[in-house]
Amino acid sequence: MSALTDKRIVLGISGGIAAYKSADLVRRLRERGADVRVVMTRGAQEFIRPLTFQALSGNPVHSDLLDPAAEAAMGHIELARWAGLILIAPASAQLLGKLAAGLADDLLTTLCLASQAPLAVAPAMNQVMWHHDATTANVDRLRSRATHIWGPAAGSQACGEIGPGRMLEPDELVRRVERLFGNRQLLASRRVVVTAGPTREALDPVRYISNRSSGKMGFALAAAAQRAGAEVTLIAGPVALATPTGVKRIDVTNALEMRDAAEEAADACDIFIAAAAVADFRPAQVAEQKIKKSDSRDEDRLTLVKNPDIVAAIAARRKLRPFTVGFAAETEKLLEHARGKLQRKGLDLIVANDVSAADGGFDSDRNSVTVIDANGCETLPSALKTELADRLITVIASRAVQE
Ligand code: C5P
Repeated sequence: MSALTDKRIVLGISGGIAAYKSADLVRRLRERGADVRVVMTRGAQEFIRPLTFQALSGNPVHSDLLDPAAEAAMGHIELARWAGLILIAPASAQLLGKLAAGLADDLLTTLCLASQAPLAVAPAMNQVMWHHDATTANVDRLRSRATHIWGPAAGSQACGEIGPGRMLEPDELVRRVERLFGNRQLLASRRVVVTAGPTREALDPVRYISNRSSGKMGFALAAAAQRAGAEVTLIAGPVALATPTGVKRIDVTNALEMRDAAEEAADACDIFIAAAAVADFRPAQVAEQKIKKSDSRDEDRLTLVKNPDIVAAIAARRKLRPFTVGFAAETEKLLEHARGKLQRKGLDLIVANDVSAADGGFDSDRNSVTVIDANGCETLPSALKTELADRLITVIASRAVQE
């Protein structure tokens, strides 16, 4: 079975010279078993005839919102519900603007509003248009609504200029579609445990020590592992995030609770991924009642004790030892510190993350990381945490699953 067998893809085509490449894209998607329905804007039809896409997709091409005959065959709401993915390639500057504004003045934009399917766009335009503040704002807005922005690539353009604005090549788009559907079953029947979020170490019933971890990276990894076919247990510190579909979640508050849950879950897992920002220390004593200012001296000292290192303990196991992955969030000497941690903690692989970078780190939706193991390191470019998670799971699976 191919990776895209029976996957239902609405391929939107907007006006741009790159539309000719979409013909090849349809062919490649169909070769992998996808069911493709093409929707063209009026602008797209100026560049390439619908008949081409009808022949390649094996389905009638949709272009009119208000065509009674087309609506009778498969109406726009039906098409919106049918889609497992809406991919718009090429996506013109105009189309990105309309999507960002939530306009629905033709079939393609209406479909995007009426569908709950994931939306991916492959921008293609002149490089000055791509760099324009208006386009940047539109793309940021779409990204904040979880739209996948694929490309553009840089290079020579049809208009004779050089710069970013070329639509990604069809084979790259197909790879991304496959990744999005996560149907490669890289981790089929594997059991994966992920720790995520911060821990809270209580001082008294109302106060605690904690850190800025949002849990987004760990949750994205749990979702990505699940998409790759794994049975996933997510051990989460206190975060305000929805549980990814199909993932078993265990909520914990402090490091000792996280350790207990992790040790138990690790007994029956193949891959252990420690993405949690576990507090290194906890107060030596937890006051039963709220500590009163009036009972304290002007300079009071807090006595802390070290928390157990959860991931190091799991990596040090002799029996029931899973493939063990840690994270290193650093503000300086990223690779040096990460390599040190890889060795000290006895990990199989470490994901190094510069949390001082403006684009990435704790609260950000984006991240850029370097993966390090005994064989060397590989830097993954900055991407949305959700996309980065898919890539990380691919790397982890390739190292952990040896068959
Ligand atoms: O030593 P440091 O906290 O920088 O190491 C980070 C890595 O170790 C992360 O993978 C984190 O989840 C894990 N860790 C842990 N238990 C701790 C501290 C860190 O599992 N007590």
